[in-house]
Amino acid sequence: MNTVLLFFVASCLLVSNGDMTISRCELAKILHQEDLDGFEGYSLNDWLCLAFVESNFNISKVHENADGSFDYGIFQINSHYWCNDYQSHSENFCHMDCRDILDPRLISAIKCAKKIVTGLGGMKNWAKWKLHCLGRTLSYWMTGCQLG
Ligand SMILES: *[C@@H]1O[C@H](CO)[C@@H](O)[C@H](O)[C@H]1NC(C)=O
Repeated sequence: MNTVLLFFVASCLLVSNGDMTISRCELAKILHQEDLDGFEGYSLNDWLCLAFVESNFNISKVHENADGSFDYGIFQINSHYWCNDYQSHSENFCHMDCRDILDPRLISAIKCAKKIVTGLGGMKNWAKWKLHCLGRTLSYWMTGCQLG
């Protein structure tokens, strides 16, 4: 029973790799499980605001920048610095393939986001977070979400 259910969930995740969004509260739950509340001083509200302004919770979002680099996934992680997409030069500071950042389990996306936020500037590394989330009232992002 459990195995069947697990397989069903897994196959849903695998099949719909092309266009995948996650709900706000589902994302909150995953971020909580990955110990992101309070990580480097940022709350789950900050992470939710970040995911919203960067991708509108679209796990499979890929966006091309003017300089020819690409931004990947729910946190729009940039290929010039953080991951390698084999299209242009990358510092690849997260030591990962950009495609892994699009994985719906969010393991690579979160791992790389943690690395980014640990560095100088923290979440200010995301221009949209700085513009739309920094210093704002963010408490409503968790409205109605259960973490347990
Ligand atoms: C999510 O991103 C993908 C890739 O950029 C895009 O094709 C898709 O339309 C987006 N989905 C939504 C719901 O915006």
